[in-house]
Amino acid sequence: MRRMADSAEWRCAAADLAPGRTLKFRLDCGGRRLNGFVVNHDGEVRAWVNRCPHVGTPLDLWPNEFYTDDGRDLICSTHGAIFEPLTGHCTVGPCAGDALRALPLRREGDALVVSCP
Ligand code: FES
Repeated sequence: MRRMADSAEWRCAAADLAPGRTLKFRLDCGGRRLNGFVVNHDGEVRAWVNRCPHVGTPLDLWPNEFYTDDGRDLICSTHGAIFEPLTGHCTVGPCAGDALRALPLRREGDALVVSCP
């Protein structure tokens, strides 16, 4: 199977990201690969780099599992840091006070488009 090359933009149908859902993607930013994810939290959408500010691991040890069990926050599965889905702020855990890195996100008709920072 041929893999689609990473590019400087990633898009998906907004309808594919229902509230409480996340989707992962990869960008090629000037030869540098960047892993990210989008989250729809209560109808508001954000795009974050999938990299914990604590040690730098991806947040999801289990692919695309970003939410806490109660669905209120995002969690890093490595050491349990908790993040606010809409601000990216780490509120609890070893990186409390730090934050996820945001990626530019825009709406184009029915599509969500994430681009390199
Ligand atoms: S790497 Fe995320 S809490 Fe330690």
